[in-house]
Amino acid sequence: MVRIDGARLNSRLEQFAAIGATARGGVNRQALTEGDREARRLLAELALSRGFAVFQDPMANLFIRRDGSRSDLPPLLIGSHLDSQPAGGRFDGALGTLSAFEVLESLEDSNLETMHPVEVVAWTNEEGCRFSPGCMGSMAFAAGSIPADWAGKRSADGSLFADELSATLESLPQAAMRPLGFAVAAYVEVHIEQGPSLEAEDIPIGVVTGIQGTRWLEVTVSGQTAHAGTTSLAYRRDPLRALTAALGRLYDAVMPVDADARFTIGRISVEPGSINAIPETARCSVDIRHPDPARLDAIERQVIETVSQASGRQRCVATVSRLFDMPPGRFAPEIVATIESAATELGLKSKRMLSGAFHDALFVSRIAPSAMIFVPCRDGLSHNEAEYVEPDHAAAGCRLLAAVTMSLASRS
Ligand code: GLV
Ligand code: MN
Ligand code: MN
Repeated sequence: MVRIDGARLNSRLEQFAAIGATARGGVNRQALTEGDREARRLLAELALSRGFAVFQDPMANLFIRRDGSRSDLPPLLIGSHLDSQPAGGRFDGALGTLSAFEVLESLEDSNLETMHPVEVVAWTNEEGCRFSPGCMGSMAFAAGSIPADWAGKRSADGSLFADELSATLESLPQAAMRPLGFAVAAYVEVHIEQGPSLEAEDIPIGVVTGIQGTRWLEVTVSGQTAHAGTTSLAYRRDPLRALTAALGRLYDAVMPVDADARFTIGRISVEPGSINAIPETARCSVDIRHPDPARLDAIERQVIETVSQASGRQRCVATVSRLFDMPPGRFAPEIVATIESAATELGLKSKRMLSGAFHDALFVSRIAPSAMIFVPCRDGLSHNEAEYVEPDHAAAGCRLLAAVTMSLASRS
């Protein structure tokens, strides 16, 4: 059995939380920023100091490899992401990445040989909040190519994706370049639940069987900018009035009538943004989640119709574009079963569950059998600086990952 060092894992979590630390105890380490680069460098340096090989691919996905007795076999991949939300927590992504690294170090400490090589991965831009879509690294890895339109994407601060990606790659000369995408034996990701059920039921482990679907839209309503003091109602073409009316209707029509639906407006802006001018344009993001793809389609249609109608009433014009479409997915039953029985053997109570958040594991599951391990987080709070995981829960998730790694990496 592999003995992981829970204290080392929890102190590593502290060490990484200092990179991009916010005043309120969280992290702001958005994808491809200097903070993200610093976190990658730290992980690469820790890996090199243990004698592991370090690689990156053209998407800046970072890989740390410990060879197996059969280096011709595809590696078992374990990991998560190091980027964060702008007001993010210390555990979303970091827990899975550092748990995977702890497993690698523990294998080395115990001088344990696996048949398959084991590789830790830190995927690029899982969050999708600085450059959309989310899961860019794992999506490109699974597809074996980078979509041509990503290079020209711009963040809200005006940075170009292509420039930020190049600078990130250049910031890690220690990592040997390897091509995008390769055969993977299996993939397992540890993550915080980001919801309240494990904590509420006092269950330390969630065995994740699948992930609900996500769709991201961008709504733009165009009207006419005009004087705030002199323009009477009949002369106004106010896009914000149209957008807020539409959103008011959608807030009432989506989540209150469907308990499985999630509808979130996380970003809204107006231009030119002057106190005494009617805006020319009003824009917002829309995040829709549902386990049923037909309902995702229906809610998207509802958004388009409601925004178009409200815009027409204000003599404005609306456009709705899709930024991200992640259909719901199921994880591999054999990996789910391996996780579940390893939890039982370790005496860890577990339950099967669906993930409400999206994860890189869903994209990797397109090319390799994959599944996830969830641990509880306090009050189910995530995408929040107060996000917190009990050290014992972090250690339990890692112990389970170590057992699953030994089991999967020893199968030919
Ligand atoms: C992941 O960060 C998500 O938004 O589900
Ligand atoms: Mn995450
Ligand atoms: Mn997240």
